[in-house]
Amino acid sequence: MLKKFERYPLTFGPTPIEKLDRLSEHLGGKVQIYAKREDCNSGLAFGGNKLRKLEYIVPDAIALGADTLVTVGGVQSNHTRMVAAVAAKIGMKCLLVQESWVPHDDIVYDRVGNILLSRIMGAEVRLVDESFDIGIRRSWEKALYEVKAAGGRPYPIPAGASVHPNGGLGYVGFAEEVRTQEKQLGFAFDYIVVCTVTGSTHAGMLVGFAKDGRQRNVIGIDASATPAKTKAQVLGIAQHTATLVELATELVEDDVVLLEDYAHPRYGIPSEQTKEAIRLCARLEGMITDPVYEGKSMQGMIDLVQKGFFPEGSRVLYAHLGGAPAINGYGYAFRDG
Ligand SMILES: Cc1ncc(COP(=O)(O)O)c(C=O)c1O
Repeated sequence: MLKKFERYPLTFGPTPIEKLDRLSEHLGGKVQIYAKREDCNSGLAFGGNKLRKLEYIVPDAIALGADTLVTVGGVQSNHTRMVAAVAAKIGMKCLLVQESWVPHDDIVYDRVGNILLSRIMGAEVRLVDESFDIGIRRSWEKALYEVKAAGGRPYPIPAGASVHPNGGLGYVGFAEEVRTQEKQLGFAFDYIVVCTVTGSTHAGMLVGFAKDGRQRNVIGIDASATPAKTKAQVLGIAQHTATLVELATELVEDDVVLLEDYAHPRYGIPSEQTKEAIRLCARLEGMITDPVYEGKSMQGMIDLVQKGFFPEGSRVLYAHLGGAPAINGYGYAFRDG
């Protein structure tokens, strides 16, 4: 589906699929849980889902002769860390606008984890006191303007690389990769569980899995706590991406399955149930999920298995999208383990 698009390789290649035997067993053994380890996809600054997206964005930045990647996220954004790594790798400058999306208890929150890594990689980090929103940010537009005014050639990458015209392509590739791996495994997954916030990961999967009619088997777990906006953004990106790849199927609102029950109390703040899910997965599988994103989708998947949402015998593929560096900003929440 992606042959006609230029791709700048930033990842190691297909990501491994790992069976989570002990977690499956712990949850009753009626559903087989697997994880696709997008968190181990690259040597670039701990990797994660943004790299698949950026592989289809970087060629445009290079073709346009840009010299500075400019993007935006929260203080502990994984996306901004990934853009900083990519800028270093391709020899561009990087300006990161980091907004106050999350009220936090840890005094080191703006000095550890993702933001620490971005600073080490040489990005200019600009802290801005604006609250959470997945849309186009004024602070980011201002940064783009300033780079240009200073004689630079900025390349705009929106939050999560999502509403960039090519933002959905990377996760179309994920679905194609899963199909190839399913042939090797000798079975197909019944469900794919994905954490959803800015939307292009989920949207790309919808397009990719729509090719074999599985788009409604992609179960998005909202971590934004603004699900109406996230759902609309997923649908918009999916429809745009479907046009780009000339998908034969039209994607409609009902194709976006987005479960809203796990994002509470708000974006970036883990509930007690999220923390329990993080501990359970870590203690049974040694697999680290974070309090902002993957901990919430892990919590959602565990709850859905326990509620019998997945019919007995289902094979569920949990997309582990990365994000572990952010956990360094949550030492207080886990001070007792
Ligand atoms: C670790 C992790 N998981 C999930 C997501 C959600 O992906 P998206 O923003 O494409 O919906 C993100 C980024 O926002 C992330 O960094």
